[in-house]
Amino acid sequence: MEKLRLGVNIDHVATVRNARGSAWPDPLRAAILAEASGADGITAHLREDPRHIRFADMDALRAGIGIPLNFECAATDEMAAIALRLKPHAVCLVPERREERTTEGGLDVAGDENRLTQYVAPLRAAGCRVSMFIGHAEAQIRASARIGAAVVELHTGHYSDLHAEGRDDAAETELEALRQGAALAHSLGLEVHAGHGLTYDNVAPIAAIPEVRELNIGHFLIGEAIFMGLGPAIEEMRRRMDQARLRRG
Ligand code: PXP
Repeated sequence: MEKLRLGVNIDHVATVRNARGSAWPDPLRAAILAEASGADGITAHLREDPRHIRFADMDALRAGIGIPLNFECAATDEMAAIALRLKPHAVCLVPERREERTTEGGLDVAGDENRLTQYVAPLRAAGCRVSMFIGHAEAQIRASARIGAAVVELHTGHYSDLHAEGRDDAAETELEALRQGAALAHSLGLEVHAGHGLTYDNVAPIAAIPEVRELNIGHFLIGEAIFMGLGPAIEEMRRRMDQARLRRG
């Protein structure tokens, strides 16, 4: 099986910084440390209300890291203009609601297919790998392939919630749906990523899905960094991902 990449989402370093309106902790410093600790990419979500990552952070990240930058954003004109200026390695399109605490569901690609086809085209032409953050529904996966996305990132939030609640049967059912979604997406030529809510305790079954090439993990790692430091927190996640992959053979 191919090695699984780890994208580290540094949004919540900015959350802590913004809580005091200071200049620290610096998300770029976290990204550089993540890179040195084995991250394969950095993800940052520039929300329309820049509640964590800010415009200037995106510029600093683009200029300051040597690994791929995954620019996560809503499919708005403002974000397209920023993406076309920055030309990050990847652009991950997500749904956004102002009142949500985090990205709650997947993007409705099937319901917005014409607009998203036009939205994605200039990003592709600029050389960005465009990724759709979606649930595992077949219609969303097929629509993502049709609109010309290179990647789908499967939303693991529901699986993570069920796992945390100890609802093992329901978590297994959700996991199976994610497995089938990953297989379908791969068969359509899409690269498969996954993320949201992943922790040391729940990452192994997701890491073991053979079609999954990349995990994007943020909140748990930044929280764990309080106790063990960001470098060791990332290294431990990397170890668990690799172990799950090895066990699967
Ligand atoms: N992938 C996407 C598309 C996301 O929106 C998020 C959350 O910002 C993540 C991955 C990371 O999720 P978490 O912070 O729960 O690890």
